[in-house]
Parts: sequence; C-alpha cells; structure tokens
Amino acid sequence: HMTIKEIFDTMDYGPAPESSAEALAWLADRGGIAGHYVNGKWGPLRDDFASMNPATGEHLAGVTKGSPEEVATAVRAARKAQAAWAKDGHKRAQVLYAIARQMQKHSRLLAVMETLDNGKPIRESRDIDVPLAIRHFYYHAGMAQLMDTELPDRAPIGVCGQVIPWNFPLLMLAWKIAPALAMGNTVVLKPAEFTSLSAMVFAELCTAAGVPPGVINIVTGDGETGAALVAADVDKVAFTGSTEVGRKIRQATAGTGKALTLELGGKSPYIVFEDADLDSAVEGLVDAIWFNQGQVCCAGSRLLVQEGIADRFYAKLKARMETLRIGDPLDKAIDVGAIVDPSQRAMIAKMVSDNTEGETFQTSAPDGCFYPPTLITGLSPASTLMQEEIFGPVLAATTFRTPSEAVEVANNSRYGLAASVWSENINVALDIAPQLAAGIVWINGTNMMDAAAGFGGVRESGFGREGGWEGLSAYTKPKTKPTKPKQIKPFSGKDGAGSGLDRTQKLFIGGKQARPDGGYSRTVFGPKGDLLGEASLANRKDLRNAVEAMNSAKGWSKSTGHLRAQIIYYIAENLSARSEELAKRIKAITGKDGKDEVGHCINTLFTFAAWADKYDGQVHNVPMRGVALAMKEPVGNIAVFCADDWPLLGMISPMAATIAMGNRVTLVASDPFPLMAAELYQILETSDVPAGVVNILTGSHTELAPQVAQHADIDAVWSFSGHNLAQALEHGAASNLKRTWINPAETAAKDMLREACEIKNVWVPYGA
Ligand code: NAI
Repeated sequence: HMTIKEIFDTMDYGPAPESSAEALAWLADRGGIAGHYVNGKWGPLRDDFASMNPATGEHLAGVTKGSPEEVATAVRAARKAQAAWAKDGHKRAQVLYAIARQMQKHSRLLAVMETLDNGKPIRESRDIDVPLAIRHFYYHAGMAQLMDTELPDRAPIGVCGQVIPWNFPLLMLAWKIAPALAMGNTVVLKPAEFTSLSAMVFAELCTAAGVPPGVINIVTGDGETGAALVAADVDKVAFTGSTEVGRKIRQATAGTGKALTLELGGKSPYIVFEDADLDSAVEGLVDAIWFNQGQVCCAGSRLLVQEGIADRFYAKLKARMETLRIGDPLDKAIDVGAIVDPSQRAMIAKMVSDNTEGETFQTSAPDGCFYPPTLITGLSPASTLMQEEIFGPVLAATTFRTPSEAVEVANNSRYGLAASVWSENINVALDIAPQLAAGIVWINGTNMMDAAAGFGGVRESGFGREGGWEGLSAYTKPKTKPTKPKQIKPFSGKDGAGSGLDRTQKLFIGGKQARPDGGYSRTVFGPKGDLLGEASLANRKDLRNAVEAMNSAKGWSKSTGHLRAQIIYYIAENLSARSEELAKRIKAITGKDGKDEVGHCINTLFTFAAWADKYDGQVHNVPMRGVALAMKEPVGNIAVFCADDWPLLGMISPMAATIAMGNRVTLVASDPFPLMAAELYQILETSDVPAGVVNILTGSHTELAPQVAQHADIDAVWSFSGHNLAQALEHGAASNLKRTWINPAETAAKDMLREACEIKNVWVPYGA
C-alpha cells in the first residue's frame, strides 16, 4: 500500500506535446523557404542554406542568403518610407498597437515556430518570449503616441540596420523594431542564420497590421549579409550578439557618422549570501542558467556563494538539477530543451572538457543536440570558465568570504551586463548593488526583463540601453542641425622672438603640475606673431599617468552630489575673482575679446553645479511585484578632446559636466590655443578639487587620439576637437568597447549629463 505522499513522489510526467502541425503547414504553404520581406512584399526567396530543428535534426526550411544588392534594395525601401512614417506619432501608435494585437492573435503559431527553429522549451517561448515581445510593441505604441509632447526636441535618426542573434529570435526582433518604429525610424532587420522563421511569421503579421510598405524590412542571411547591412547606407546600426562581432562592427562603422548601439556578451555574477533564502536562490538559478539552455547574454553563469553555506547550497542545487527535465522542447513539461545548433553544442562541450580545474557535476541528457545541466565548483576567479562566456547550461562556481570580496570577485570580469544578489538583509543587498559593474542588478531575483526598464551593460558588454525612457535616446537625435567643429590654425611667429622669457606651461596630473615625460614643448604665438609661451607636448606616458591619477581618484564617484556641487560652485567663484585677467589672457591668445567667454564659463559652472544633485534617476513601473530603480551612475574615467575655439570654455564645460556626475576626467586642451590650461589648473589648485579628478594635458590631438582610444582604463572619450578624430577614436575604441561621443550635434547641458552617466537598473522586490 502506498501513502499519498509516496504516490506523489513517484509520479512522473506523461508526455504533453504541443502540436507542430500548424507551424509546419504554414511553412509548407509558403514553399518551405524563408527569405526577404522588403517594401511590404516577399522575395527574392532562394534555398541558399537550411534551417534545421535542433531537437530532431529535421529540415525545416530553406533560407535565402541576402546579397549586398538585396540589402541595398531593402535600405532604399526603408529610406523612401521614412519621412512619411515620421510625420504622425498617433498613426505610428495605432500601427504598433495593431502589431501587438496581431501577435496576440497568432501567439501560438509564433511560440511553436520559435521552439521548432531554436530548440527552446515551448513553456518558455509560450510564456516568456512571445508575451514579452508583444509587451514591447504595446509599450512602444505608447512611446510613439507621447513622442511629440514628451520629446519635443528629438527627431528620428532615419534608417536603422539591425542585426540580431539566435537566442531570442522574436524577442530580440521586438526589442529592435518597436522602439525604432515608435521614434519614427524605419528598419532593415537581419535575423540570425539559425533562426529566421519567427521573423517570417512576424512579417506576415505586419502586412495584416497595416504597416506601410518599406517601414519594416527583413533580409535573411548570415554574417556576410549582416556585414553588408552594417556597410549599407543606414543612419544607425543596432547589434546584439557576440563581443567579437560587436568589435568588428565598431571598427567597420568608425568614422562613418553612423550611430551605433551594441548589446554583447556577459558573464554575470550570481551572488548568494549566507543569509539568503537558499531555496529561492536555488530556484532562481534554474532561471538564471538553465533558462533557454543558458544561451542568454545576461545568464547568471558565475555563481559566487558565501563560504559558510557553500556545501549546503551546492547539495540543494545538485538535488534540484536532478529534477530538471531535459528533452523534446515541444513537450509542455520540459524544462531544458535543445542547444540551437550542433556547432554550438560542440563549442560548449569543448569548453567543459578542456577545463581541468574544480569538480564537475552533470545530470544526463538525451542523445542529439542536447547538453546536460552542468555545475562546476571549486573554480578560482581567474579560471577560464569563470572568465569566458560559455553560452550554454554550464554554471561555474566559486566561494567568497566577505561582502567586499564578493564585489571584488564579481567585478573581476571584462564584462558588465547583469548581476543577481541574494540576501534577506536589505542592508547587504542594497549596499552591494551600487558597487557592481553591471547595467542591471536583480535583488533576490534574476533574468527579469521588461519593456519599461532599460537593458544593457557596461564595459565589454557593450553600450546603449534598450527599453524604458532611457532606450529612446538610441533611436533619436536632436532636432538641431549639427555644426561642424571649427578647425583653427595656430598663429605663427618667429621662433626666438622674446627669448629669455621662460613660460613653459606644464601638464596637470594628479593634482600637481608635471613636466612632460618626453621633454618636448611647442612655442605658442599670439595673433600678431608675438611669443606667448611654450606648451608641453604630452605623450603616451603622460596619458598613462593621467589615467593612473583618475584611477586613484575613484572616491570622487562615491561623493555626494551636494559635495560635487559645492566644489563646482567654488571653481566658479575662484574663476570669477580672476575674470578680468582671464579675459585679457583669452584676448592675447585668440585676438578676440574674452569677456563673453569668461562669463559663459561662470554660467556653465553654475549650471552643472545646479545639476550635480538634481539629475537623478527614475523608478520604472514594471508589471510584477517589484520596481526597477533606474540609477544614474558615473561612466568612470572620461577623456575629452576640447574644442579648438573657446580655449577656456571648451575645457570648463565638459569638465563641469563630467565631474558633476562623479566621473574623473582628463582634458586635452584646445589644439591651437593650449595656453589657458595653466590658468585653469591654477584655479583648480585653489578650489578643493581632489587630486586626479581633473587632469589636463596639452599636445597634438591627432597624435594623442589613437593612444586615448586604445587605453584599456578609459571608459569613454568625447571629442569637440576641430580635427576630425572620429575614425581614430571610434576604431581604437573597439579595444575595450569604450563609449565615444564625437563631434556631437547636441551639447546642451542635459545632453552632456546623459553622456556622463550610465544607467543601472536595480530591480527590487516591492509589495511582494
Ligand atoms: P554572432 O555574434 O556571430 O551572431 C550574431 C548576429 O550577427 C547574427 O545575425 C550573425 O549573422 C551576425 N553577424 C555575424 N558576423 C557579422 C559581421 N561581421 N557583421 C555583421 N553581422 C554579423 O553570434 P554567433 O556566432 O551566433 O554565436 C557565437 C557566440 O556569440 C555564442 O556562443 C555566444 O557566446 C555569443 N552570443 C552572444 C549573444 C548575446 O546576446 N550576447 C547572442 C548570440 C551569441
């Protein structure tokens, strides 16, 4: 006789397959070929390569590989449709709403197609991918409606080329298309080669929803097609995928003037403190690393457990892993499905078998393109598996002792996409959150995403945010026409004129005046050829010293907005006390009256001092029992190439904006008029600015640009220089994927503040 408990414990799931008949018939009805959807029409459709069902190895459809000519045709269609599409926000809202409705009506077809093509469990495509994609269109229908009133100064960018990966084919499509369309852009989107099919269903729904021809264009193909789209006549490129390809795209778009956002890889820490609710934390891990077979850019793939509970936690985790059901993704009771493609499965298997450290625990998996849930404990923070993205159901684990060690290990990564923190102690959790280098932090949760909250990372996880109000800036530009920065030739004069006078201006590094490492300087003449002085020529070593100085001034980023405001006001006061002398010096340097410029400087300092404690974040209203706190954080170390004209204001304005938000800055003074640097550092020396927060270099912008661009410890570079540094800076920035802001059209205070911040979305339980 069995007790009821025994019966429950021994019961197993019966098969609960979702039918694939409708999706397969849909493909058959369309000739079994996926291809381009351009200008509202299908074609050309060719069977260039195959799309397979990874769970069964069955052939699903032939896919057309888009040629550069076909990409160009799609871009032309998008271009032609754009002006009319941008005209009426309410019309756009109606169309986006209609897309959402169509997707709802056909949600089952979309979910089954996604599961067939990608291998993910139907439970996920049905309950997560498709509903979140639909939510994205609803949310952005609202943004289209509100654009005119809420973003009166912003205009669409134009035609967007969008390249997406295979891990969330429909959801990534929605993340890319919905905000772009809402803001009046038109798009050409390329799905990943493994997963083009749900995009085909989507395209058909667009026709039914009344999307005007040319507004949404889809071109199928592989990496070469993607590269052709990046190179095509588009105004913006948006990419989600591997860091390696992200780097290539950064280089390919360097100097082209194309706007760019990159959402790349991650190795997100999942931190469990000893006072966490361990059962919840185990359940969270199921969603963190076994959701979508771990093929998630923000997967909690690095487990950090506090030492005292590690053994107990691993035991619980292993027991839970044994109950994960892996197999036919169309079965509604399956937790873990197939890996997207045998080539990806082989990569995962190789990374795991190459590892010689720690202890590996695996459950079993069926034959074929399946990989068992895997836990590897006892790794060191430097182990390859703790550093490299595996993009599979493999959890790499290590332990820590103290909260500060947890932060240190968590931040020991070139990535910075997301992080989870588990603790029942609100003080611990909320103390850790701001210290983590990540664009998203989940407190007692994981892998939560919503259209209302920005998604995106720091460091080599890429730049830009998708979703929320913060996501809109990536799809808009200011209405004002960009003015090309003026390149000014330095005045010439006779070397030796007025010799005997020693006025060699130094560099300003770490709060001290410093002689240039190379010992070189250049003579600077006034408008009448009179010798004004010598300006130091900074080299690579001086730049390195300035970066070290910025690194040692990290405390500034933790100071209060109030304190930063006080110091910026104090700079203004000290500058004001010397305004006549400064105006005269500007006159001597440029030949133009300097009074206006000095007045502007004081005004600008007041503006950024004012903002220092007021440019705050938002609380996003996400549809669950929690809120997402969109916190504005400093970017870190910023280097600025200052404008040629305005020798003082060109330094003051970016300096004030960056330090107001808690960044450390290195200014490269005006190339033709470097001599206001000394005036500024003397003011800084008397204004209580902590050493290293502001550093000033002088020298050749074109020579310093590639060095700045490639420095691994600079997080962002801005240029207002008269020299066109875009190619050098953007190409070099691919090294550590630093943010670039080059010759921006917008330099209003708010634009500068936006660029001086990263937005971190911290998800906290609220009312739960
Ligand atoms: P991938 O980055 O190569 O592919 C993503 C997309 O970029 C695809 O649509 C592809 O066709 C396109 N693409 C490839 N080369 C291109 C180029 N030169 N120019 C423009 N577009 C190009 O990713 P892949 O090969 O599918 O996966 C490899 C690894 O990348 C994975 O194992 C994983 O580590 C990582 N990955 C990360 C993702 C994320 O969301 N962070 C998503 C997918 C992959």
